Amino acid sequence: MVARAGWKLMRRLLRGYVFTITGIAVGVAGLVALGAMAERIVRFIEGGDRFVLGQISVAGKGMGMGVGFTAGGLLPASKIREVAAVPGVAGVQAQIMLPLNTSTSQFLTLAQELVLGLDLSTPMPNRHYRELPVRQGRFLRPGDRHVTVLGADFAASRGLRPGGRIMLERTPYTVVGVLERTLTAPDRFAIVSIEDARELWVAKDPMLLNFTLGRGDLNTGAAVGWTLSEDGDTVARRIAATVSGVNVTIPSEISRVLRSSTAFFSALLVGIGALGLVIGGLSLSNTVAAAVFERIREFGIKRALGATDLQLGNEIFGESQPGGRGGGHRPRRHARRVHQRLRRRSRAASVPLLAAPRPRGAALLRRPGRRRRGVCDGPGRAGVSRRSDSPRHLMLRAVNLVKSFPGPNAEPVRVIRGADLRVAAGEYVAINGASGSGKSTLLNLIGLLEDPDAGELWIADRRLSGASRTEKSRARGRLIGYVFQSFLLIASLTALENVALAVRYTGGNRAAARRRAQALLDEFGVGHRRDHYPPQLSGGEQQRVAFCRAVLNHPPLLLADEPTGNLDDEQAHVIRDALRARARAGAAVVVVSHRAEPARDADRVLTLIEGVLK
Ligand SMILES: Nc1ncnc2c1ncn2[C@@H]1O[C@H](COP(=O)(O)OP(=O)(O)OP(=O)(O)O)[C@@H](O)[C@H]1O
Ligand SMILES: [Mg+2]
Repeated sequence: MVARAGWKLMRRLLRGYVFTITGIAVGVAGLVALGAMAERIVRFIEGGDRFVLGQISVAGKGMGMGVGFTAGGLLPASKIREVAAVPGVAGVQAQIMLPLNTSTSQFLTLAQELVLGLDLSTPMPNRHYRELPVRQGRFLRPGDRHVTVLGADFAASRGLRPGGRIMLERTPYTVVGVLERTLTAPDRFAIVSIEDARELWVAKDPMLLNFTLGRGDLNTGAAVGWTLSEDGDTVARRIAATVSGVNVTIPSEISRVLRSSTAFFSALLVGIGALGLVIGGLSLSNTVAAAVFERIREFGIKRALGATDLQLGNEIFGESQPGGRGGGHRPRRHARRVHQRLRRRSRAASVPLLAAPRPRGAALLRRPGRRRRGVCDGPGRAGVSRRSDSPRHLMLRAVNLVKSFPGPNAEPVRVIRGADLRVAAGEYVAINGASGSGKSTLLNLIGLLEDPDAGELWIADRRLSGASRTEKSRARGRLIGYVFQSFLLIASLTALENVALAVRYTGGNRAAARRRAQALLDEFGVGHRRDHYPPQLSGGEQQRVAFCRAVLNHPPLLLADEPTGNLDDEQAHVIRDALRARARAGAAVVVVSHRAEPARDADRVLTLIEGVLK
């Protein structure tokens, strides 16, 4: 039961907004993905900077087995000493960078796993130099042998953690640490001491020692640190100028290369992100605005059906309560309680619950639940008497109504210029007039939807021009049935719920109202559409649903604005008959139309000409 109600509510909320919601979901997902990519790029740049900015890389000239920034030939110990002697150099840390598994593919070098041998006996005193960040375990220490610190990807691909073992060139190594992911080269490193790296290199290529003086000459490059008072780029250029046979990288140039290679992607991401935000923002504001406008429209319709500000406030409050729902539980429960109380009282007083005494002005406007003992509430109470033998009394009296609207140049558009109208209970009056002559405006004044600028309005012996908002709301709910030209159905309610809504604010029995609503929908040929929402109905079907809602409470004053405007001849005939029947049952019926047919059955036909009824 609860699940069904929940699903129904979900369907209501989703219906109509499904594309916008999907759009927002895709937009948000896109933004999240872009955010993650942007974050990766930032980390990539940071990681690269961390790796290259703090050092000047020096490599031996010529082709060797080394790769990466130190790609080149051997850097013998004598060259390292020469570099160390350059003014501004604070330390030279010999390095070996070897591919773990040699590949002939250039492409594979991008993803190649490398062994990096570091000579930790030489510190790197340098204001930019930062240790590679260790996530687990520790970094290498001077004197370490046959231990390794792995890059994040290297460790992940082999499922290794500190304490794990790995074979490098058939020699077992213990993992002592795993680095943070940097998204750059170190992610694929196995870092070992330089002595171990030399051992690995010789194991790979035993002939090497034939070409070198000793193991100390087995270096592929060196990281150079500079004194704090010097600038790294200057020192790098100085090394390049004074030491022959070496390649020297300039720290800021490497950083620039790194940044420019990612700049395009960064700009693209910023652009796409901004676009995503704009699109997301627009669709969000569209949804919110649409929902707000729909809500405002819904309140307008409910007010037109007789809801007071208090009732609407209660409804909103009810929705905000846990378990509250679109329909507003609180007022519903309150109405049920009131009705049960009244039912008990009426039983005690032996008054039939749905007795339909003749409508009598102010008595009809009393608030439900505040009636005198023995007098019950319900649509029949306010409803049309079916006794036709009693003398007709005046149900509507409009005297000299005037209404104008502000025009575009502050020049008022005078629409109703002194209209007089008297309609007795049981009388059917048709008002004709050209399109734009003010028929809807006049009906809105009579239906208490708009206030006249001047003139008086009496409904059922009660002067309602100048009455309070609440009084007018109650009068609308209990005295007036209104068939709107534009139907004014609530899009989030089904046809049946729209019709039954007419009773919500008058305090009548809701179960009985739903039964009556179903019977009316059947009578007007839309019973099979009871669970359809207004946008799923044709114009004619909506018009018939709107008609059912207007007559549900048997209102003593029935106002219909072009009630057959969207109907075929047969259906128009059914509606005209129904209007006639309402009048026969005692209601005062006023129909406005620019067409002649609704006037055919009328007791009186008036014409609205230049804002005056003739
Ligand atoms: N809120 C408003 N602001 C300004 N002008 C308005 C407003 N409502 C109505 N009017 C103007 O009042 C005139 C009468 O409008 P109304 O809707 O009452 O005509 P109508 O006779 O019902 O026309 P139709 O047969 O086309 O429904 C029109 O010229 C219209 O532009
Ligand atoms: Mg109109």
